[in-house]
Amino acid sequence: MRALITGVTGQDGSYLAELLLSRGYEVHGIIRRASSFNTARLDPVYEDPHKPGTRLFLHYGDLTSGEQLTSLMYNIRPEEIYHLGAQSHVKVSFDIPEYTGDTTGLGTTRILEAVRHSGIKTRFYQASSSEMFGSSPPPQNEKTPFRPRSPYGAAKVYAYWLTVNYRQAYGLFACNGILFNHESPRRGGTFVTRKITSAIAQILCGNQKKLFLGNLDAKRDWGYAPEYVEAMWLILQQEQPDDYVIGTGETHSVKEFTAEAFGYVGLDWREYVEFDSKYVRPTEVDTLCADPAKARKQLSWKPKLTFPELVRIMVDADMEAAGLCPVGEGIQILQVRFSDWHRWRISRLDAVQSHEGVAFEKECA
Ligand code: NAP
Ligand code: GDD
Repeated sequence: MRALITGVTGQDGSYLAELLLSRGYEVHGIIRRASSFNTARLDPVYEDPHKPGTRLFLHYGDLTSGEQLTSLMYNIRPEEIYHLGAQSHVKVSFDIPEYTGDTTGLGTTRILEAVRHSGIKTRFYQASSSEMFGSSPPPQNEKTPFRPRSPYGAAKVYAYWLTVNYRQAYGLFACNGILFNHESPRRGGTFVTRKITSAIAQILCGNQKKLFLGNLDAKRDWGYAPEYVEAMWLILQQEQPDDYVIGTGETHSVKEFTAEAFGYVGLDWREYVEFDSKYVRPTEVDTLCADPAKARKQLSWKPKLTFPELVRIMVDADMEAAGLCPVGEGIQILQVRFSDWHRWRISRLDAVQSHEGVAFEKECA
C-alpha cells in the first residue's frame, strides 16, 4: 500500500508515518520549506533514501499553493491520503485568521482538487476537530451541530463540509475523523499540556520559576495521540466512507491536568502557576467531551490509556529530555500497555531530539 501524509512533520503525522511503515506501507510525506530543520519528529523512522528498500519519501509542498499538488498526486498515486497539515493552534488563529483560513480551510480544497484533477483513485482522510463543536454542549457526537468559536474552528468546519461534498458530488471515498484533543511527548510546546509538562521539567532543573497560564477552567477530552492515529487508519479501512467522532468520553479541566502533572513529581502547582491574560482567547470553547459510541461500535476503537497515564507519560518524557531521572510510571505504562509499533524508546528519542533538529532535510533538497 502507498500512502500520502500532509503534515507529516507534526505530532500526528510523525506517529502515523511510523504506524504505516510498521504495517508495510510505502509512505510519502509533504513537508514545507523552512530555514531551520523541521523534520526532527521523523528521525526515529528516517532511512537513508539511497539505501535499497527505503519506504519513506518526502516531497516539498505548501498547502497555501495548489501549484504542484496535482503533479505530486499523479506521480505518487497514493492509495490513501491522510490530510493532517494545518495551522493547528486555536489561539494563534485569532492573530492570523486569514492565513489560518488559507491553510486549514482552503488547504483541504487544494488537496481535494489535486485528487480530482489527477484522476487517481484513492481514499481521503480529513483531520477534522472537536473545536468545530465550539459552544454546543457536551457530550458531542456526529450529530451535534457545529458552533465554532475561533477562526481555526470555522476553517475546520469549511474543510469538513468540503470533504462531505466531494464524497457526495464525485463519489470520492472521503472521510472526516472528528478528533478530540490528543497529546504526547511530541505535542508542540505551545499547547497547554506540553507547556505544563515541559515547564515541570524545567522547574525541577532549576531553569524556570513560574508557569504562566490562561483559562484554567476550560475542560477538554484528552487522549494519547498514538491511539488516535490508529483510529485514522481504521476509518480508511471501512467498506463505506463515513465520519467519526474519536475521543475518550472523559473530560478534565486545565486545572486538573496541572494538578495531576505537578502532583506526579511531588510539587504543589499553586506555588508555581500564575495567570496571564495573554493566553486567554477572545472566545473560548468551555467544555469538550466526546460521545465516541459510533467509533466503538463500527471501528471497534477504544482508547487503552487513561488520563493519569497520559500525564505520567508526558512528564516522564520531558524529565528525560531535560536530563533528569524520570519518576518512571509513564515509561512502564507504555512498555506494558501499548502496541508493538510504538515503544518508549521512540517517544523518548523525539522528546530529546525535538529541541535539536537533526540533519535530515538535506536529503530532500
Ligand atoms: P501539528 O503538530 O501542529 O502539525 C501540523 C502539521 O501541518 C505540521 O507538519 C506542519 O508543518 C504542517 N503545516 C502547517 N502549515 C502548513 C502549510 N502551509 N503547508 C504544509 N504543511 C503545513 O498538528 P497535530 O497535532 O499533529 O494535528 C494534525 C492535524 O489534526 C491538524 O490538522 C490539526 O488541526 C488536527 N487536529 C489535531 C488535534 C489534536 O488534538 N492534536 C485534534 C483534532 C484535530 P511544520 O512542521 O513545518 O510546521
Ligand atoms: N495553549 C494554551 N496555553 N492553552 C491554554 C493556556 C496556555 O497558556 N492556558 C489555558 N489554556 C486553555 C485554552 O484556553 C484551552 O481552553 C485549553 O487550555 C486547551 O488549549 P490548547 O492546548 O491550545 O488546545 P485547544 O483545545 O485549543 O486545541 C487543540 O485541540 C483541538 C481539538 O479540540 C489543538 O490541537 C487543535 O488543533 C485541535 O483541533
